[in-house]
Amino acid sequence: MNAIQPASKSGTLASYIPALLDADPEAFGCVIYKGESFIEAGRTKDRFTLQSVSKIVSLALALMDQGEEQVFSRVGMEPTGNPFHTIQALEKEKPSKPLNPMINAGALVVTSLLEGNSGEETIGRFLAFLHELTGNPSIHICEKTAASERKHADLNRSLCYFLKSHGVLKGDVEGTLDIYINQCSVLMTCRDLARIGSIIGNEGRDPETGRGILPPRIAKIITTFMVTCGMYNASGSFAIKAGIPAKSGVSGALLGCLPDGTGIGVYSPPLDEKGNSAAGVRLLETLSEKYDLSIFSSQNRV
Ligand code: DON
Repeated sequence: MNAIQPASKSGTLASYIPALLDADPEAFGCVIYKGESFIEAGRTKDRFTLQSVSKIVSLALALMDQGEEQVFSRVGMEPTGNPFHTIQALEKEKPSKPLNPMINAGALVVTSLLEGNSGEETIGRFLAFLHELTGNPSIHICEKTAASERKHADLNRSLCYFLKSHGVLKGDVEGTLDIYINQCSVLMTCRDLARIGSIIGNEGRDPETGRGILPPRIAKIITTFMVTCGMYNASGSFAIKAGIPAKSGVSGALLGCLPDGTGIGVYSPPLDEKGNSAAGVRLLETLSEKYDLSIFSSQNRV
């Protein structure tokens, strides 16, 4: 960790959600979890918001709620070379559906597909699902971050209205946006992230109890999106250098998973130019190289 920490100096804190500027740029923590054992290093007690890591959780829930056919009739499966908040591709695609569920446009459509009779009920279901995935019933929303994002959500708002005008996003734009902002503002620790990663890597089963939390097919879909789109327009180079299915968030959160059921949670807030945690990326690349963790290594192919 000490050798990697300087990598964070090349990054900057996300500023378009002002509350994220409260983060300590020096914070750096990592938890690796498998079965019942945790390996922890650095500031693993720090809490941070989930941000885009929430996109894999909402996708899993939407797939359970609506099924694959419904979800993928509204959002694509293709990676993109564009940044995560791009609106550009929506104009080019006919029909105008977002390229994948990991970019903001796609994630907003996914959120609009979550079941619930009210916004409150939907976010309540999202939180309950997170409680199951993490085994941590105390997980809750950071109201300050949510309020901050709400005030600076014009780009996401315009993505929603664009998608609504093309019939891709159904229902109430402001309601969908509010659920999305809340899901991005859930507070977590590296330990929580590592547990989620472990369940995804373990084909959806809780590694301690063996209980199925996600259907294996959905765990497989999520893992595939993590490889192809989880690090945005750095997903290709990250797949080559680390080969670890991963999902990043602008808070500096990074979740990884391995096919043997190992989950990895990393937190370091300064971001590289693609919006991924600079030190987090370096840490996963280094661990992968040292312990030959790439899922593309012949010894790791299942
Ligand atoms: O919607 C947004 O822009 C943020 N709430 C989440 C974006 C994000 O985390 C992108 N990740 N690197």
